[in-house]
Amino acid sequence: MSIQTSTDLHKIKQVSEVVGKTLRLMREYAQPGMSTKELDEYGYSILQQYGAKPAPNLAYGFPGWTCISINHEAAHGIPSAKRYLQEGDLVNIDVSAELDGYYADNGGSFILGKDKQNLQPLVEASQRILQQAIQQIKSGVRIAHLGRFIQTEAKKSGFKVIKNLVGHGVGKSLHEEPHEIPNFYDRANRTRFRRNTVVAVETFISTRASQVYEQNNGWTYATQDGSFVAQHEHTIIVTDGKPIVLTAANGI
Ligand code: CO
Ligand code: CO
Repeated sequence: MSIQTSTDLHKIKQVSEVVGKTLRLMREYAQPGMSTKELDEYGYSILQQYGAKPAPNLAYGFPGWTCISINHEAAHGIPSAKRYLQEGDLVNIDVSAELDGYYADNGGSFILGKDKQNLQPLVEASQRILQQAIQQIKSGVRIAHLGRFIQTEAKKSGFKVIKNLVGHGVGKSLHEEPHEIPNFYDRANRTRFRRNTVVAVETFISTRASQVYEQNNGWTYATQDGSFVAQHEHTIIVTDGKPIVLTAANGI
């Protein structure tokens, strides 16, 4: 969406703060032995307190309130009462919601407890690259150039990027124009970031793979070669200078 009025600005800030807080509180609540369903229900209770509706369910009928993806899963992991978090898991929580007709989206990967799989460098690279990438965004910058920046930074850290999961416009719906903000240099993408637009920028940094595949449940994307993927995501407003990070409450 493009911010046109002070109401737009106020409302998009509101929903962004709610998803940011929810993500941070869920990350703090996660414990080894907890089912992903329990973590998801906790997130739902926070969204409900603010009157926000979980966006994946609202927009697509996703069978959960938030997406919780573990280890080789990169996105759209379905919360389950039979899936238990374990010490050392690479956990990704993605929270998006609607409030008063406005949508915001954010996500983050972290290691649960002790880093048994030596994935802290991956998580840190993803988080750092998101921060640096956001600083590159202003009106007029080509989306393809942002992708090239992310890909180059990942490579410098010894990692790859996932090419078939992308950032996107957000605001009046969960996914809107621009529909593709890739993490690689897509020279055919001539689109530029525009002032006052709201976008969700999300890294998908991988230990090896550059593609993820839809699983049999029809939702979850995972790697096929056992690689791990870390994602960090903020909803931001593009300006002529530094962007406004709307989901800063997530603490990423
Ligand atoms: Co997103
Ligand atoms: Co998201």
